[in-house]
Amino acid sequence: MDMALMMIVGLVLMILAMALLLRATAFPREMEAIPGSLGWPLIGESLSFISEFSSPAGIFSFMNKRQQRYGKVFKSYVLGRYMVFTTGREASKMLLTGKDGMVSLNLFYTGQKVLGPNSLLQMNGEDHKRLRRLIAEPLSIDGLKKYFHFINNLAVQMFDEWLAARKVLVLEEASTFTLKVIGNMIMSLEPTGEEQEKFRNYFKIISSSFASLPLNIPGTAFYRGMKARDKMFQMLDAIIIARRRNGSKLQQDFLGSLIGKEGSEDDEKLTDAQMKDNILTLLIAGHDTTTAALTWLVKFLGENPTVLDRLRKEHMEIREFGSSSLTWSQVNNMPYTAKVSIIYRCAHDYTIETLRRATILPWYSRKAAQDFEINGYRIKKGWSVNLDVVSIHHDPQVFADPHKFDPSRFDDPIRSFSFLGFGNGPRMCPGMNLAKLEISIFIHHLVCRYKWKPVEKDDSVQPTLVRMPKNKYPIIVEPL
Ligand code: HEM
Repeated sequence: MDMALMMIVGLVLMILAMALLLRATAFPREMEAIPGSLGWPLIGESLSFISEFSSPAGIFSFMNKRQQRYGKVFKSYVLGRYMVFTTGREASKMLLTGKDGMVSLNLFYTGQKVLGPNSLLQMNGEDHKRLRRLIAEPLSIDGLKKYFHFINNLAVQMFDEWLAARKVLVLEEASTFTLKVIGNMIMSLEPTGEEQEKFRNYFKIISSSFASLPLNIPGTAFYRGMKARDKMFQMLDAIIIARRRNGSKLQQDFLGSLIGKEGSEDDEKLTDAQMKDNILTLLIAGHDTTTAALTWLVKFLGENPTVLDRLRKEHMEIREFGSSSLTWSQVNNMPYTAKVSIIYRCAHDYTIETLRRATILPWYSRKAAQDFEINGYRIKKGWSVNLDVVSIHHDPQVFADPHKFDPSRFDDPIRSFSFLGFGNGPRMCPGMNLAKLEISIFIHHLVCRYKWKPVEKDDSVQPTLVRMPKNKYPIIVEPL
């Protein structure tokens, strides 16, 4: 063996030994009491986690196998982290309501860096409450009324273009649509033109760096993401400066509502850094989720013609009742759409079949901020505790025939903490009204104008945090 080769082998062995040592010393001894396997040296159970993550059944099979073997609470070593997984209504109530500061959100390193230190996702306790109040206000149903025409016109235009295209990738279309909506809602960005292109470009790079490896060196996704974040912030700085110069003529979008508070009490004001980190947070938290929800909904409707017929009938009636253009009051008066796409409210929660069946965010991660007990097991401060939502959404005790797409299952109210599509407790999704509005308008125009069929049968799922069809769901569309 020549010298260079020996040095490389030596280096690799040294790195392996260090990684093993690191893993061994980082193991919290008290975790021994929790059932479960830590898998192979070094990699733990990461390989089966990743492969099952992107299988059609998703992370469900990983969780299900271990729940059958170990029960509702088990440990694992996945992607370089010791984790405790848990499921069930009791656990979800404890972790999501997080009483007395019991848990904080467990954002991984690259996520923290990409979103920035002022992001809502990095705030806890009173700071989180205050920031959330400021952010949630413009996202309320009343606050969103003024975007209705923009969203509706955008949908009409997009579906006009489908006529010529015939074959479309639903996920791409939904992504363009949701990004244009949020760009307009946040900073009145026009749907076409140079600024929109720049915005889209930066966003895509930032978004794909969100869950990348934490290597901030040229050539890596993380490095590119951080550079694109700087450019996005320069764009926002220019808009903020221009808005302040205009003084009283502030535009009434999300940014305008925050800048407009600058004359008020300290408690109501945000610094520029807080505004920018949180605009990025809304973009990251709101784009992929809504895009995925739209894509799954089109897929589920296409696979369930009876549900689609019923939905179409309701929307056709809305059309006949008014004119071809949808109005604000009609959007808020769609009982069946509500169940299919998202406008249904019941006593405790919003319940939506698409989000249950697809479970777009398969688990919610928390960090224990103090010691506590879950299902009889002691959880220590600092541990990563993860709520498996897929099992909750597919519990046959609550949802009969759980793999069936059946919006009528929500005709009767369900028990609280059984449906968690938008989360629950203090971190429940503040963007759900916007998501509901986008989905209702999109689906109204789709079902009133087109029938469609999938180009291929492929149920694989992208191995990303937000569950989406891997093939972007290509369909052939035909006017009705
Ligand atoms: C169908 C679309 C959406 C789904 C399924 C969804 C789902 C969720 C869920 C499950 C959570 C809680 C996660 C946890 O507890 O760990 C959450 C939080 C959040 N969502 Fe959404 N979301 C959607 C759309 C949006 C939109 C459109 C926005 C922004 C405009 C948004 C912004 C946020 C933010 C900022 C949080 C963090 C809240 C906090 O930590 O206080 N989401 N979302």
